[in-house]
Amino acid sequence: MTVTIIGMLLQARVTLTRGGVEEAPLESELLLGFALGMERSVLYASLEEVVPESAQQAMESLVQRRLLREPLAYILGKKEFFGLEFKVCPGVFIPRPETETLVEQAVLLVNARFPGGELLIADIGTGSGALAVSLAKALPSTKLYATDISETALATARANAAAHGVQDRTSFLRGNLMEPLPEPVDVVVANLPYIESRTIPCLQPEVSQFEPREALDGGPDGLDVVYQLLRQGTRHIRANGAILLELDPEQMEAASNVAREVYPEARLQRVNDLWGRERVLVIRCNANS
Ligand SMILES: C[S@@+](CC[C@H](N)C(=O)[O-])C[C@H]1O[C@@H](n2cnc3c(N)ncnc32)[C@H](O)[C@@H]1O
Repeated sequence: MTVTIIGMLLQARVTLTRGGVEEAPLESELLLGFALGMERSVLYASLEEVVPESAQQAMESLVQRRLLREPLAYILGKKEFFGLEFKVCPGVFIPRPETETLVEQAVLLVNARFPGGELLIADIGTGSGALAVSLAKALPSTKLYATDISETALATARANAAAHGVQDRTSFLRGNLMEPLPEPVDVVVANLPYIESRTIPCLQPEVSQFEPREALDGGPDGLDVVYQLLRQGTRHIRANGAILLELDPEQMEAASNVAREVYPEARLQRVNDLWGRERVLVIRCNANS
């Protein structure tokens, strides 16, 4: 059957909207661009062109996958974060826009507190390597360690570091939180699992059915892994170091209390994300140094 690009786009838009996909127009364009191997800008310039039979079939299968609520990023195999493209695949957490606040705050802190910039940063629970690679790009004098318990995540993070040319300054290590770090570091950034176990089944199917459980589940109050990290920090962070954590706004108070207990000298700061919600907890471990 002869179908034009515009015809296929409209058809996909209707199907995805009926299937409950929120951003159906944008996703239709991204999926068809993927099926045709075309940038979106080229797609717009070719609306009246006929879609080859093979691309029609490919598009139909992509739309079916999306109707089953497979995340768009897994279908496309990539996700943009902090202006960079990251490879992602099933088994690897998809980086979120709110986590960009953590990168921004880490860059501000490093530039203010370590003006020479030659320091060690650790990204704990690195997933796709989004934080480690973005920081390595933004702070060219730093060296980074990144850890994860998932081998799939580490393989993906290594590929992303290589794709962005920072593989020589980033070491990816497998193990529990900071345990694999071979030396103390100056700054720790971490977006760890922080969702309460019981709420995971209520999340969007894209998350609850497709993203790795070990990337989401923070235990009964969502803070098990975060507390463990805070306690480990005393052995792995240098005296004038800092920890930057991404959290749920509802968890800020509880996490701040534990941070004060573990680091009595610390100065704490809460930073809002772009949506105005408290998202990042900055802990300057020894505020006097
Ligand atoms: C919410 S994801 C965040 C990934 C990435 N930092 C980001 O922001 O896109 C949490 C990551 O922590 C990892 N993780 C969970 N528990 C861990 C542990 N005990 N030690 C190291 N990594 C862990 C998961 O495998 C997952 O990749």
